[in-house]
Parts: sequence; C-alpha cells; structure tokens
Amino acid sequence: MEKTPLLSVRNLVIGPKRNPDLRLVDDVSFTVDSGERVAIVGESGSGKSLTCFSVMGLLDPTLQVMGGDIRWEGDSVLGMSGAQHRRLLRTEMSMVYQEPLTALNPLMPIGRQIREGVPRVRDADVIRILEQVGMRDPARVVRAMPHELSGGMRQRAMIAMAMIRKPRLLIADEPTTALDVTIEYQVLKLMYDLTHEMDTALLFVTHDLGVVARLADRVIVMYRGEIVEEGETAAVLQTPEHPYTKRLLAASSVATARTLVLTEDEEGER
Ligand SMILES: Nc1ncnc2c1ncn2[C@@H]1O[C@H](COP(=O)(O)OP(=O)(O)OP(=O)(O)O)[C@@H](O)[C@H]1O
Ligand SMILES: [Mg+2]
Repeated sequence: MEKTPLLSVRNLVIGPKRNPDLRLVDDVSFTVDSGERVAIVGESGSGKSLTCFSVMGLLDPTLQVMGGDIRWEGDSVLGMSGAQHRRLLRTEMSMVYQEPLTALNPLMPIGRQIREGVPRVRDADVIRILEQVGMRDPARVVRAMPHELSGGMRQRAMIAMAMIRKPRLLIADEPTTALDVTIEYQVLKLMYDLTHEMDTALLFVTHDLGVVARLADRVIVMYRGEIVEEGETAAVLQTPEHPYTKRLLAASSVATARTLVLTEDEEGER
C-alpha cells in the first residue's frame, strides 16, 4: 500500500464568499511527503499564497474553501473542530510570512516572541535556535525589539520562531521578497538546512527558478489559480511542458537554473 503523505491537498477550490463563481484557486491537488522539499512557483496573483494560507487555516474571512479537501496524514483538516485544528497548527506546522514586520510584535523582545506559546522552552533552547539561524550575538537578539534588527535578522528571527516548535511541515511564503538576492538565497538555504536537520518537510513559494533548482525536490507551477505543471525539479526545469513554465524559464535566472541542474546531473553520472 502507498504511504500516506504528510500533507495532501485534493481538488482545492477557493473563492470569495460574495462571488462564489470566481475561482481564485481552481482544482489544485498536490502532496508533500515527510521530509520532502516542494516549491510552488507562478506569476503574481496565481494563487500561491491562498494555497498556503488555506493549509494553515488562515484564509482571509472574506474568502472560503468552496471545494476539495486538505488532509494531514490522511485526516481532513477542514473537518476538524477549531480546537483540533489549533492543536495541529501549534504542534505540526509553522509558517514563515512574506513580510516579517507584520508577523512580529513590535512591542515584544524577540526572545519572548520566540518562546511564546511553546511549552517547556528553556533559555538555552532560545539561544540555540538563534545560533542555528545564524545570529552572531544571540544574547543581544533575545533582548532586542524587532525594529532594532536588520531586515535579514528579522527574517531569521521569524524562522527561529517557526522552527523552535520542531514542526513537521514548514510553509514559507516567499520569505525573502524584501531582501536582496544573495540574502534571499542565504535565508532559503538556511531553511533548507534546518528542515533537513530536523526532518521537517518544506513547502515554499518563490519566484526564482535558480533557488528551485538548488533547493526543491519537486516543483509545482501555478498559473491563474491552477496547477499547470508539476514534477521532479530536474525534469521540470530541463524539459518544461507548459508554455508558462517555458516562459518562466526563459526569464530571470534560467541560465543559472539550467546550469545547476545539468551540473548536478553530470556529477551524478560520474
Ligand atoms: N481577500 C481577497 N479577496 C479577493 N481576492 C483575493 C483576496 N486575496 C487574494 N485575492 C486574489 O486571489 C488571487 C490569488 O492571490 P494570491 O495572493 O494567492 O497570489 P500569489 O500567487 O501569492 O501572488 P504573489 O506572487 O503576488 O504573492 C489574486 O487574483 C488575488 O487578487
Ligand atoms: Mg503571494
């Protein structure tokens, strides 16, 4: 029998409550296995964030899941009671948001925010997670307010908040758009390494196919609310089938993406 995926999204349809004919996410199905790294790419407005938010149960109240199902280890998340769902979110999944300032409390020291809501956290655990996300002076960061940190440090603090729970799935919705490209890669690589270390699955949204080539096991391509292509990263990047994927690949960091994939393949053959 096939193994039950950690996360399974089936035929998901999301639309505005006031306009049920409009499908912002249309018949989206995918799975994430334990420990797997899956990237979602697609143009602006293609439904990437809505897909992530619906998994986290954080859809805007004006929107609703109109069809399909979201399952966690085979159990329907949509059918769960509020308490069951909150428990799942507290213990099994974490999310890193696009803009860290909206996720961080401006009036609370970073250390307190990291430990908030997590049972049995010791000071040493907070220091350790801050070290793991690459903070050079964790003792200072513990006491710092969000505005006293740089943009990159705030991203790292948010990753620390998400990872201290040792979630089994980390969802990262373009965690780095506000940062420059080199930091973007560093931050994503950090999440990649941390999730690997903790055996956490990673579902991440990005615009950068170079990042996909390096960090994702599988890639999902969304276009106008639908998944138009999906597969092993190397296969999708080397022989894209959908016109949108071809265009995406022809833009931006294509060359890098291809070179990286090809280089890794060649290495494999040696
Ligand atoms: N609260 C809302 N009410 C109505 N429409 C919405 C709402 N939130 C998002 N949408 C629409 O749903 C579609 C998908 O939005 P979503 O935020 O998932 O896009 P995205 O792929 O994450 O884009 P980006 O790359 O710009 O972040 C867009 O057309 C957007 O305008
Ligand atoms: Mg988005």
